[in-house]
Formats: sequence, structure tokens, C-alpha cells
Amino acid sequence: MARIPDAFIDDLLARTDIVEVISGRVPLKRQGKEYSARCPFHDERSASFTVSPTKQFYHCFGCGAHGTAISFLMNYDRLEFLDAVDELAKRAGMEVPRDTQQRNAAQQDDSRDLYAALDAATRFFQKHLEGNAKAREYLDGRGVDADNRARFSIGYAPDGYSALKDALGTDERRMKLLDRAGLFSKNDRGHVYDKFRDRVMFPIFDRRGRVIAFGGRVLEKDDGPKYLNSPETALFHKGRELYGLWQVRQAHQKIERLIVVEGYMDVVSLFQFGVTQAVATLGTATTPEHAELLFRNAPDVYFCFDGDNAGRKAGWRALESVLPRMKDGRQAFFLFLPDGEDPDTIVRKEGAEAFDARLKQATPLSQFFFDEMSKEINLNTLDGRARLAERARPMLAQIPDGAFGDLMRQQLARMTGVGAGASNSPAAVAAPPRPVTPTHKRSLVRSAIAILLQQPSLAAGIENHHDFAGLRLPGVELLLELIELVRQRPEITTGALLEHYAEREEQAALHKLAAQELPGDAQIWAQELHDVAVQLEEQLVQQRIEELKSKPWSELDPVARFELRELLKAAPGATRKRT
Ligand code: UTP
Ligand code: MN
Repeated sequence: MARIPDAFIDDLLARTDIVEVISGRVPLKRQGKEYSARCPFHDERSASFTVSPTKQFYHCFGCGAHGTAISFLMNYDRLEFLDAVDELAKRAGMEVPRDTQQRNAAQQDDSRDLYAALDAATRFFQKHLEGNAKAREYLDGRGVDADNRARFSIGYAPDGYSALKDALGTDERRMKLLDRAGLFSKNDRGHVYDKFRDRVMFPIFDRRGRVIAFGGRVLEKDDGPKYLNSPETALFHKGRELYGLWQVRQAHQKIERLIVVEGYMDVVSLFQFGVTQAVATLGTATTPEHAELLFRNAPDVYFCFDGDNAGRKAGWRALESVLPRMKDGRQAFFLFLPDGEDPDTIVRKEGAEAFDARLKQATPLSQFFFDEMSKEINLNTLDGRARLAERARPMLAQIPDGAFGDLMRQQLARMTGVGAGASNSPAAVAAPPRPVTPTHKRSLVRSAIAILLQQPSLAAGIENHHDFAGLRLPGVELLLELIELVRQRPEITTGALLEHYAEREEQAALHKLAAQELPGDAQIWAQELHDVAVQLEEQLVQQRIEELKSKPWSELDPVARFELRELLKAAPGATRKRT
């Protein structure tokens, strides 16, 4: 996918007022320089959500949610990045750069027509459900009431080979669109006919509530494959979509949990019985894209599978997809159902409360992981424990930094006796000592970063007069990068600056620094920044001296000897440490 140039994002954020964007959705109260509200991302009585017009970003002191106007739309309206950019660009009257945009203008018209064709097909199927007693009885038999039919826009594709084609394919252009929407099949002789015939139709909605594909179920057994799905089209990639997600979003302001099930009817039935957070993968394993989408929508995700072997395999595939996304605050659970049952049959038999009770008993990811990993391994033997360590380590390495990953590694260490931070483990003893960075040095860089984030314009004072590139100290590269960003865009706001780090691991730390209340004012900060820069420069000199001194004098060439002498003259304090 083509990227949108950073410069465009900067411009877009510069022309967007985050206060306007948010206040259109959440009532904001003015408080001094900032605005506050009760956080839309977690339940709270007090107002710990603040929006800063000067920094152009929001931050919640309660739950830590934070970001720019773009991330607000992504999290609140649950838009994809490109869609959020589109939305803001529309507001600001800007055009997203055409050549780098995912779809150019012609293609965009084209997809509008495709959406329209799919929408017309949906309505066609709905109309035919009304007119078909057999199909209505089928849904009655499965307990899908009128509300639920409407909520999921369930329909019926008439029998015969050309009902849809005759009704909607009225000209060449429409025929082409219906074809590209995946609604036709073709025989060997090139004859085109309706793909879905005599089936109950389940439209699949995208994140904005547009129909992009269908699943069709036979009414009677032995009438071909039980479910027929739309093929992959320009709009539909099944590895990225979740059936029911749109309906779940409609039903909840804030989604506490998502339950991933296997079938269309599982989602529909759960809804029918009041469990309104179920989504289904579309006959595929849980992909990494699914995992991302799931966690972007809810902090807790429950995977619900058959209890058989295939179900546990599917569970493991899901685990592999979520593991690299297990940031702190996210939880995954696995629920395996009794043989021969699926969520539809269970909720029908036992009701929503019992189903909820099962979810509460679901296996946490950590347990499922170690259960599966240590299957067929004898942990009583050294060899068995070694094997477990060897298997588990690369997988645990995928977990993002944080408490969850630490705990998982500790658990592995407990089970195997092989170190992962446990102090008495052999690996920890053997590990080379890490260079220790004095905390005051680290905080020097940190405070410079904090000041720059809050008052980007101050960067000008450093870049012209100080040079500490090459200093090996945590955070220095980041600091230099920030200075360079501001040099290129002197008007940049805090929010826009942060947006540059949206996908990087530094992001969370930067947001914290940006949200801090810094004592003093711009003048004091400028002075502080200057002092930091001077000290960093001095440290760079020291670093160079140490470097040169680490070699015997006899090995230094004349230029290096000269350099060392000059440096020592300028920084006499360093001579004392010579050994
Ligand atoms: P199941 O065979 O478990 O069906 O397929 P189900 O969901 O319980 O269906 P009902 O209750 O009999 O109506 C689970 C999912 O696998 C996909 C569909 O997405 C289905 O919902 N599937 C299944 C297909 O794509 N094609 C098939 O032929 C069967
Ligand atoms: Mn079923």
C-alpha cells in the first residue's frame, strides 16, 4: 500500500483543529489553556481526558489513551488510518495526494459504483426474502426474528440462474459491475449466471457499514456446499474482514470484549440471545490482520472454537496471530466447546448467561500457550525442559515489551529452570554485564526531548549552535531526529510531531513526555535546552577521548595523537582518569 507523504500529514494536522474534531463527538469543557471531558475510551466519573489546542493532541490521565486528531478518529470512529486521513482532509478541504493514495480518483469512482451494486444486490435479496415463504420459514426455524434479520440485512437469493442478473444487470456497465462484485459465475462456454441461487444471504459489511460481499447458505442439506462465499474482489479480502463487526460497533459505544466464532449463524444467534459482541472469521484461520483489527476494537478478545482437534489447531493459529500484538492492557482467551456444539447451539440450549459463564471460565492465553507447548514433553527430564525452552523462546520473543512478556518469560524460566531474567538462572549469570548509564545522563536527554515536544520551535536554538551527533547515549538519536523534524517544519505542533512516531515503539514514551506538565515557561525551557546541549557536547568530547585512550599510544597514528592532545587540552578534567 502506498504511503501518504509525511509532509502531507503534517499539513493536514496543521490545518485541523483537534478541539473541533473532538468536540463534535464528545462534549468538551474549557479549563484554562486546555479542554477536558470524561474519557470516551474508558468509564469514569471525573474528567481526566484533556485536549490541548496548543499541542494539538489529546491525553487521558486515567487510561493513558492519547494521540492526534488522526488517532482520535481511528479510535473513536474506528476508522482505518487512510480513512481517518480522508475524513480530516475532507474537513480541511484538502486533497490527499493522488499518486500516493491507495486508490486514485478514477478508481474511487469505480469503487463507489461497486458499493452501489452490492447495495442494490442486498436490497434485492431482502425483497426476495419477504416474498419467499420457504426461506422465511427456514429463518423462523433457526430462531432469527425480524429485528435480527433487519440488523444483519439477511436476504434470500431466488432459485433459477438469472434472477439477479435479469433484475439488476440491465446494461453492459451494470453487468460488469455485478461481475466485479463477485455476484456471477461463468460456465465453460462463457455463459454468465447468478452465483448465489436458492440460498439465505448474509451480507458482509465493511468498517463503514457498506456491503462488500456475501455468504449464502443452502436451505436444505445436500444442496451443494453448505456455505458459498463471495470470491475475493477489489473490495473484499476475507483475511481482513470480520463478519458482524459492523453490527457490534453499532450496538456499543465502547466494546469491552469481542468474541470470535466460526460461523455466520453463530454471530446471528448470539445477537439474538443478547450476546452482542460476536464476530466471525469467514471460513479462514485468524490472520494477523484479524488480530490487529480485533484489538483495535476491544481490549479483551475471546476465541471460541470446537473442542476437537481441529478446533485446538485453529486456536493455536489464532494464538500465533495475536502473540506479537499482546501489548499490555490487551487480553486473549480461548474457549473450547463440547463436542458437536457450536456457539449457536449452546446459546440456544443454555441461554446467554450460561454462555457468559463459559466465557468467564475461558483459558487465558498464557495457560493455553504453555499447555500446548508442553504437550508430549516430559518436564521431569532435563532434556524435556530444554526442548520446551527451545520451542517457547522464539515465540515469546515476539511479545511486545511490557509486563505481559516479562511474566511469560518468567513462567518459562520457572517451568524449565532456564533463565529468562530469573536471577539464579545460568543464562543470567553468563550474560555479559550491561553498560550502566548514569540516570542523570539519561534524564538530561529525556528532559531535552520533553521540552522539544512541548515547544518544538525551541529546536532552532540547538541545531545552529550545538553538535552532539555521534554521542552514544540512550535517546540521543531520537533527540537528533526530533531536531531535524522541526528544522524541516518549523511550524510543527506537538501533535503533528507525535504523529511521526505513530507506528514506532518510542511512541508511548514520547506521548508521556508530551503530556507532562513542565514547570517554568518558554524562556526557562530555552535556557534548559541550551544547558543540556552544552553538556551533551562535553560528553561527546569525553566519549572521543575515552575512545582514543582505549588504544595504546603506540597504535595511534599522528592525526589521532594530535586530536587526543588537543582534546585533552580543551578538557583537562579527563586526564585524571588516565590509567
Ligand atoms: P460450519 O460448518 O461449522 O457451519 O461452518 P455453521 O456455522 O455451524 O453453520 P450452520 O449453523 O449449519 O448454519 C462454519 C463457517 O465456515 C464457513 C462459513 O463461514 C461457516 O459459517 N463455511 C462452512 C464455508 O465457507 N463453506 C462451507 O461449505 C461450510
Ligand atoms: Mn452451526
